[in-house]
Amino acid sequence: MKIFSGIQPTNQLHIGNYLGAVKQWVQLQENHECIYCIVDLHALTIPYDPKNLQEKIKETVIALIAAGLDPEKCIIFTQSHVKEHAELGWLLNTICPIGELERMTQYKDKSKKFKENINAGLLDYPVLMAGDVLLYKGQAVPVGKDQEQHVELMRTLARKFNQKFGKTFEEPKSLILQEGAKIMSLVDPKKKMSKSDDPKSCIFLFDTAEAITKKIMAATTDSGKDIKFNLTKKPGISNLLMIYSLLTGKTTQELEKEFAGKNYGEFKKSLAQVVVNYLEPFRKKQTEFAARDVYVQEILKQGAARAQKIAETTMREVKQKMGLI
Ligand code: TYM
Repeated sequence: MKIFSGIQPTNQLHIGNYLGAVKQWVQLQENHECIYCIVDLHALTIPYDPKNLQEKIKETVIALIAAGLDPEKCIIFTQSHVKEHAELGWLLNTICPIGELERMTQYKDKSKKFKENINAGLLDYPVLMAGDVLLYKGQAVPVGKDQEQHVELMRTLARKFNQKFGKTFEEPKSLILQEGAKIMSLVDPKKKMSKSDDPKSCIFLFDTAEAITKKIMAATTDSGKDIKFNLTKKPGISNLLMIYSLLTGKTTQELEKEFAGKNYGEFKKSLAQVVVNYLEPFRKKQTEFAARDVYVQEILKQGAARAQKIAETTMREVKQKMGLI
């Protein structure tokens, strides 16, 4: 299968990004043709500082390789280095009904969150995403639950393009995990864990042991005192149980048994230890790669060159079909 997925270089990676998306990326690279993209063009749609964008991109690549991506097994590159992304995005704009974009949940959420900056890019964001995947004729898109609607639009646009100009694209499907596709905020377990929220609500992949422990011990839990998995009645403890389960391979039922009669404090202490131990090797690798600037830049350079070749071939076909050449 041809796999494509992307991540914004907006902040540090958190365990939601990891458990919902990146963990899948690492597994898929073993047996599939995988392309993973740091989507800097998407990141421009919310307020950002141009002075540190390059640094954030570098941090994101390092995080991805520390989490297990292997540049020998997949392509890792920066979106803006392959100009065809913007080009195909524009062409797809011309077949995308505006109503499809206005009903996107992420657009509605972000327009509320960034009231001062409701730019056209924010609305157009999913079309650029569709371009990202279709440029490589991607067949499957490993993402968290929040991106499902966007992948649905990719399918719509692929279908429309094929109808209008002749069969060119397959309709990409989303790969969304049964468990882990929506890790919730530690502060408000009714909201997803999000990079752009309060740092207390996220466990970042490279948080120190102290920071992880502090955040988990302070995580919002529910009334009552039983360690029970119940998403509607006990969203806080259920989210923590889910994280525990995903990091240890134990089911939530097994954990309920293990912690029967114990209180929230004891459970949280144990979870903090699990998270700290799981992330320890990530932290080590991050320190190692942070010191290898040339290597990191080389990954991006080679990744862009490989991506560019595929992108050019698709664009030639698309332009021919659309009557541009
Ligand atoms: P981004 O950068 O917000 O997130 C990267 C990936 O992490 C997943 N994710 C989560 N999964 C579980 N629980 C959470 N709390 C959580 N938060 C984030 C996201 O679903 C995503 O898979 N628009 C995309 C980037 C993108 C892209 C693409 C993805 C651009 N072009 C083409 C796929 C294909 C985004 O903003 O992801």
